[in-house]
This record gives sequence, C-alpha cells and structure tokens, in this order.
Amino acid sequence: MREKLDLLQQKRAESELGGGADRIKSQHDKGKMTARERVDALLDPGSFVELDRFVTHRATDFGLADEKYLGDGVVTGHGRIDGRLVYVFSQDFTVFGGSLSEAHAEKVCKVMDLALKTGAPVIGLNDSGGARIQEGVVSLGGYADIFLRNTLASGVVPQISAILGPCAGGAVYSPAITDFVFMVRGVSYMFVTGPSVVKTVTHEEVDFEGLGGADVHATKSGVAHFVHDSEREALAAIRTLLSYLPANNLDDPPVRPATDPPDRRDEELLDIVPDSPTKPYDMRDVIRRVVDDRDFFEVHRDFAGNLLVGLARLGGRPVGVIANQPAVLAGVLDIDASLKGARFIRFCDAFNVPLVTFEDVPGFLPGVAQEHGGIIKHGAKLLFAYCEATVPKLTVITRKAYGGAYDVMNSKHVRGDYNVAWPTAEIAVMGPKGAVEILYKDEATEAREAEYREKFAHPYLAAARGYLDDIIDPRDTRPRLIEALTTLATKRDRNPPKKHGNIPL
Ligand code: HXC
Repeated sequence: MREKLDLLQQKRAESELGGGADRIKSQHDKGKMTARERVDALLDPGSFVELDRFVTHRATDFGLADEKYLGDGVVTGHGRIDGRLVYVFSQDFTVFGGSLSEAHAEKVCKVMDLALKTGAPVIGLNDSGGARIQEGVVSLGGYADIFLRNTLASGVVPQISAILGPCAGGAVYSPAITDFVFMVRGVSYMFVTGPSVVKTVTHEEVDFEGLGGADVHATKSGVAHFVHDSEREALAAIRTLLSYLPANNLDDPPVRPATDPPDRRDEELLDIVPDSPTKPYDMRDVIRRVVDDRDFFEVHRDFAGNLLVGLARLGGRPVGVIANQPAVLAGVLDIDASLKGARFIRFCDAFNVPLVTFEDVPGFLPGVAQEHGGIIKHGAKLLFAYCEATVPKLTVITRKAYGGAYDVMNSKHVRGDYNVAWPTAEIAVMGPKGAVEILYKDEATEAREAEYREKFAHPYLAAARGYLDDIIDPRDTRPRLIEALTTLATKRDRNPPKKHGNIPL
C-alpha cells in the first residue's frame, strides 16, 4: 500500500508542476500567475477540490505521443467563495500554451455540466493559445462543445470569464457568451485575428494592446466589463461581484444584514440637481447617497459613460442600478448606452435581481452616425429588455424624462412597479426649447418657452395620470425605495409562454 501511495503522491506532484519548472518560471517572468496560483487566489483558502488531475491528451501526431502532461493544460474543480459553491477552470499556459485539446475541452465541459446540475456559478480563468494546433478539428469540436454549454447555461447559472493571457480566434466566443468579462492591463488580449493577419488583410498596423488589450475592450468595444491593473485585483473583484448574485436562476440574491439604517434620509440630495436644467451633475453622487454604505459596484465603468449600470444593496438586498449620467453627453441614450443597459437589465432579470432606475435623460442622441449605426434597433434592445423584465422594477426621475426615453427608462407603461419623481422632474414629449421651435418656428420666443416650461416641465401632469406613484422629497429616496423593495419582494409576474422572444439583435 505504501508504495502505491508513494506513486500517487509522485503523480500528484507531477500534475501540480504542469509544463515544468522552467515554464512556470517563464510564466512568472512575464509577470503572470500560474493556473494554480490563480485558483488559490480566487477561492476561499483550502476550499479547492480538483477534478481530473490525471487526464492526458490522446493525440499522437507531431510527436505528441511522447509529450504528455498530467491535467493537459487546464486545472478544473470546485471550491467556495465566501462559503458558497462555485465551479472553476483555469487554463495552464505552461502546457502547450494552455491550448485547448480534446481532453482539455472535456475537462472544462465536465465542470460546466456539474455547475448546471448543482446550480452553481462557473468561473473560467482563460490563458490560452487557442485550439491545440496538433489536434486539428478535434480541438475545434472541443471549443464548440464549450460554446454550446455556455449558451445552455446562460440565464441558469452566472458565468464569469477572466482573461489572463492571450485569447484569440474562435476562443474569444466562449467568454463573449458569458455574463461578465474581466481583463488585466498588459496581460490580457482578445481578438478574432491577431495583428499580423490584420496587417495582411487590411494593411492596418496595430500592436496586441492596440488591437485587443484590456483598455480597448473596456472603453471601445465594450467586450470587457471590468479592467484591472493586476490579476489579484481582478480575482478579488470576481469575489465581490459574486457576493451580489444568487447561485442560479431559481435562487434569490443573497440578502445581507443591513449596516446602513433603512430609514436614513440624506440632506445633501436636496442640492445635487442644479437649478439650471442644462447644468450637469454626477448621478453617482445620487446613487451613492441612496444605496447601502455608499457602495456602488459599477459594471462597464469605462464604456458608454452616459449610462451607469452596476450592483448595490438597499436594506441589505442586492439591486441592479441603471442610471442616466447627466455629466456625460447630458445623459443622452446612444447606441453604446442602449447595448450596455439592455445586457445588464437582462442579466439582472434572469437572476432575480430587482432593477432600480435613476432617470435624467434628454432623449435619444440625434445624428447621421447614430441613425446609420442602427440606434433604432439598438435603442429597441433597451426598450425590449425593460419591457420583458419581470423582477421588481423601481424608477426615480430626478430631472429630465423626455420623449421616447421617458417610455424606455422603466416607465409605468412598461410595467414599472414603483415610479416616483423628485419635484425637479420635467416629463414631456421634448424639452421646452425644441418644443417651441417646432410649434412656433420663427416665432419661438423666450416667453413661449417659459410658458411651455410652466405647463409641461414638471412632474404633476404625469402624477395626475397615475404614471407616477408619487412625487417625493429627494431626502426620502432611500427609505421610499427600501419600503417599495420590501413590499415587492413577493412580486409575481410572468410573460406569455413562448420558446423565446425575438429581441431586435
Ligand atoms: C499548440 C501552442 C499553441 C497552440 C502556443 N503553443 N499556442 N501549442 N497549439 N495553439 C505552445 C508553443 O508552441 C510553445 O510551446 C508554448 O505554447 C508557448 O508559446 P509561445 O509562442 O512560446 O508563447 P508566447 O510568445 O507568449 O506567445 C503566445 C501566443 C503564441 C501569442 C499565444 O503562442 C501564438 O500565437 N500561438 C498560436 C495562436 C493561434 O493562432 N492559435 C490558433 C487560433 S485559432 P513550447 O513547447 O515552446 O513551450 C483558434 C480556433 C478556435 O483557436 C476556434 C473555435 C471555434
């Protein structure tokens, strides 16, 4: 027995070493953590239970019969984050550059299947040269097996991807299907084709960072929801993100004992909205003064800054916050903001996270670029997402709610459950200046503008129709929202039975 145990220990030690000490050193020299170090940093200490550490590839071509590594380039298993079960796979760049073989894919699929069966989140730590070139179509099949599982698990368990190395070719599509993508500056790259192919095909000169680095995807493409300066920071942020989320779509998000008094009023809220309707202010100030402990975990912070989305707690209950940001482009809705908002709303709705909307929006952004870029279909996504959501939906109009944007931003008409406005709210078809210019053309005067403002630029007409449930003192926003959330905790609403809707993609 002892001899057999020795052999087991020896094989375990071998699998822990992945591609060997030299390649581990080279990984460290690049400033990167190893697959196992990442798993340890992500999970509660000592909670990781590894699966499939003895799996090897079955390829024989290109000398692979003689080059096998226990585990075959991916560390898989389950562990705990704040005591809650999660499944994890972590690609090991020291083994064939973390490339995906048939066996590697089977290991990933196994943890995804287990996560779906047990209703637990899946976290993928990606660091891979893509399909294992020596295996050909078998590795492509392996990717497709993963894409299918990503899709089937979507909306059932939260799926999180950290990109901690190269991620190229079709491999980018697994993270892209998942709910949240984390990247690290100087470490992560994502692209469908790399700089050299780009140069051949389009004659554009671009480096890795400029084509698909963390900042590019966080600010321009919106592929990355979070960007960090170090791997440890990114892994810590994944833990924080999960603290707001249920383990699966049948659970409610975890409620924490509230440390911030639910009846706390905030005097400063009286002075945040400037007297002039054209003056900007930072909606983050409003959000932070309302939510528990000023804690706003922002998602997509560097993308489409005119709309803010993120997670927070109210009275200990997690909520998804969507807010127009008057400090950027006056809070107007454009293509990127619509995409950002729609995806976040659908995530929250899939996972029973109530939605809280803070609204100050002058409308949709006009212009040729927006029209030709498809603001109609993209704006429709945001509308569709709000309309189909059945979680508790709360709205606070702080200032402008003009035009189609009034309808879109969780109005009563799209099943808003609790809609209130501050006395500073202006709810109308359009702003006073634009309205009198259309109504009176050359005879538009300041007096007429003032008349329009007095007639329409307030919340009382909407309230008279019952489109607002109340007009509130801004200082009471937090207690009012918490009260509404509590009463809506047992909300039941359903959409008509169907295979799935046809969101305007
Ligand atoms: C097999 C691979 C590999 C791969 C890297 N390696 N990528 N082995 N299949 N796809 C091996 C290298 O041979 C090397 O082995 C080790 O991993 C480290 O690679 P290096 O090149 O030395 O590292 P680095 O300089 O950091 O460059 C990393 C890299 C580069 C940028 C990822 O290796 C690279 O360009 N790889 C190929 C990327 C690619 O074109 N993949 C196919 C994409 S198409 P040794 O033994 O020297 O340590 C795809 C299709 C998916 O993935 C489709 C899904 C639908």
